[in-house]
Amino acid sequence: MKKNRQYLLLSCIFLAAAVTAGGCAAAEGEKDLVYVGHNQAFDHPTNTALLAFEEYIESRLGDRYDVEVYPSELLGSQTDMVQLTQTGAIDICVASNSILETFSENYTLFNMPYLFASSEAYHRAMDDKTVTAPIFNSTAEAGFRAVAWIDAGTRNFYTVSTPVLSPADLRGLKIRVQQSPTNVQMMRLLGGSATPMGFGEVYTALQSRVIDGAENNEMALTSNGHGDICKFYSYDMHQMIPDILVANNRFLENMSPEDRQIFEEGFRLVNEIQRREWVKAVEQAKEKAQATQQVRFFYPDTRPFQEICMPMHQEFLAGHEDIRPVYDRIQEYNIQYPSSSLTEDSK
Ligand code: GCU
Repeated sequence: MKKNRQYLLLSCIFLAAAVTAGGCAAAEGEKDLVYVGHNQAFDHPTNTALLAFEEYIESRLGDRYDVEVYPSELLGSQTDMVQLTQTGAIDICVASNSILETFSENYTLFNMPYLFASSEAYHRAMDDKTVTAPIFNSTAEAGFRAVAWIDAGTRNFYTVSTPVLSPADLRGLKIRVQQSPTNVQMMRLLGGSATPMGFGEVYTALQSRVIDGAENNEMALTSNGHGDICKFYSYDMHQMIPDILVANNRFLENMSPEDRQIFEEGFRLVNEIQRREWVKAVEQAKEKAQATQQVRFFYPDTRPFQEICMPMHQEFLAGHEDIRPVYDRIQEYNIQYPSSSLTEDSK
């Protein structure tokens, strides 16, 4: 049923895109439809922020733009959506930084396990244009660029039947990872069996025990229901991978400078609102997972996980010398804002 709806929607979008590509600009008085897609549920902070974006753009440019936000993979999986944004069939979408490394290798940097020492270092680095510009602009040739980053918290392992307290506990477990070479390599090093799949497939895979666990932030337990099945969530803190709002280049470049400025302000608002909502949402998700799904939270020593993953940094940098200054800048933030690893007492 969901698939049928998706196909119908996608056919309409392709038809609209074909008409636009054929040079038929919106007739006078008609509005430009701006398609925005993402894979989170309606009540997720990302959707809240994008609805605020819709409201903001329409309050300023509503005579010419009609922004439509499609949540819950209605426009396809994240990979589908990025490809549609690349061609211009849709204008804007949210993609995990993980999957963007298959479009430009520079994005691999932000997927490195234990890249950021703390949430503060992560936030400061992502707010620093000298850090993000070399990454965000690197997909320009692929037809799209990043226009804002979105917080997706810390990624941790969660499992159906046994807690992960050390890398040894991952041995023999099939763990869903995002579809990116970095995540597959990380799982291989940590000793688990990496099972890459799209986000929308994870619930069923857990339910049918095709996989023994997954790794994600706390929202996946509640908003995606994974806590109905997985009762052990371990704060090994292996990654802080941002979500990225990406937009089609032609869409951005065809706007007047005045409109573009308003859209840029809208992108800034997405980041601001999502980050504010995120803090509350994660707190609520944790409470709900504990109280209603009976998920237990564990706080293992993160160092053994970290030691195994660290060689990935130098391996990446050896092949990407041009990214080293960005990496070094991140290290400065790490020194300034050192470890914030969670302990039972701190939460
Ligand atoms: C998080 C992230 C999503 C991503 C998902 C995943 O929810 O915010 O962008 O798709 O993880 O693991 O696939």
